[in-house]
Amino acid sequence: MKIRKATKKDEKEFLKVQKKAFPNLNSKKQALYFEEKIKKKEIFVAEQKGEYAGHNCFGKYLLAPPFSRGVFLEELAVKKKFRGEGIGTNLINALIKFCKKNKINMFYLSTGDFKANKAIKYYKKLGFKIVGKMKDINPKSEYSYGEIFMAKVIK
Ligand SMILES: CC(C)(COP(=O)(O)OP(=O)(O)OC[C@H]1O[C@@H](n2cnc3c(N)ncnc32)[C@H](O)[C@@H]1OP(=O)(O)O)[C@@H](O)C(=O)NCCC(=O)NCCS
Repeated sequence: MKIRKATKKDEKEFLKVQKKAFPNLNSKKQALYFEEKIKKKEIFVAEQKGEYAGHNCFGKYLLAPPFSRGVFLEELAVKKKFRGEGIGTNLINALIKFCKKNKINMFYLSTGDFKANKAIKYYKKLGFKIVGKMKDINPKSEYSYGEIFMAKVIK
């Protein structure tokens, strides 16, 4: 398994994996999002045996309060056939390594607040704690459920 920074050439695979993992997302917005993330160098890609296996996207807040010296995990997705092989964990660990290198001490994320969401337990296992919940969502959201916010201190 290899973790690397994404390049423009990854767009097709990125969009495909996003659509499969999050069918509600708007494809046009996702293409614009990819462009922005590439410019900011805020995507890691995981490869398994030379094949695009998954990615994470994040936002970094180096100066701006209240998130100064923090990252927010915006997306995490692994192709179905590669799930359960530790790729998601490796993608999270790559971002933790990035935080340590850049003296960033807070790692934030959010995930859907619904019972069947396996990601909540997954993030808890990786050391994230629930720091808040928001039931009311943006009326323009692609989703119909609230969000759970989680955080981990990077030491
Ligand atoms: C969440 C996700 C990135 C994990 O990637 P992964 O490479 O399979 O993760 P790992 O191999 O490191 O760890 C496997 C664990 O993920 C858990 N998991 C979390 N969400 C899961 C999901 N939607 N489907 C299957 N397994 C999931 C498994 O239960 C497993 O737990 P275990 O080790 O206790 O058995 C991947 O399942 C995925 O892409 N899911 C769809 C998109 C998603 O839910 N993203 C996160 C929400 S914000």
